Amino acid sequence: MSLRLGDIVPNFQAETTNGPIDFYEFLGDSWGILFSHPADYTPVCTTELGFTAKLGEEFAKRNVKVLAVSVDPLESHHGWKKDIEETQGCLVNFPIIADENKVVAGLYDMIHPNASEKATVRSLFVIGPDKKLKLSITYPASTGRNFNEVLRVVDSLQLTANYSVATPANWNHGEDVIVVPAVSTEDAIKKFPKGVKVVKPYLRYTPQPNVES
Ligand code: BEZ
Repeated sequence: MSLRLGDIVPNFQAETTNGPIDFYEFLGDSWGILFSHPADYTPVCTTELGFTAKLGEEFAKRNVKVLAVSVDPLESHHGWKKDIEETQGCLVNFPIIADENKVVAGLYDMIHPNASEKATVRSLFVIGPDKKLKLSITYPASTGRNFNEVLRVVDSLQLTANYSVATPANWNHGEDVIVVPAVSTEDAIKKFPKGVKVVKPYLRYTPQPNVES
């Protein structure tokens, strides 16, 4: 059965380009991103892994550990990693799982037989420090994911985990946020000293609480 938001994600042990790992131990108290790609030595995947590697500092700033997976063997991953570094101009420091037996792909429902019998689709899971699933997206092989969007979503998830706010359409870090409906306007004024703008009784904005303004 597929994973749903709020579910505890399954643990696993796997061989990776950085050595064997236990997923939960790898994550520790960090946030995690587990993402699959259809196959090694393919063009879109090459750009995706390269771009993710380039965002390494951004993920580290947010305390997010990244882990890639495909069903190709370790030797293939090592060779392809060199190609990614050569063509994308970056070092791939995060581990890539060699899921030849499709254990991880099975646990996380990454093979969608009507899309491809054998290859994983482009699944991406954001996992919280509590090991619960916070977000999942699925793209087809032909469409590379937007990893700036993944960072934007992590910013929203980390903010809304700590404050009684939600983020509006197209929100970016630093912009005004929405007071959640569960908080009355009277309480919101006390909770958010930077101010509350009431557009409608159910639509109330406040400056992002965890940034200097
Ligand atoms: C790619 O990563 O470029 C790719 C993989 C499978 C099908 C189409 C594109």
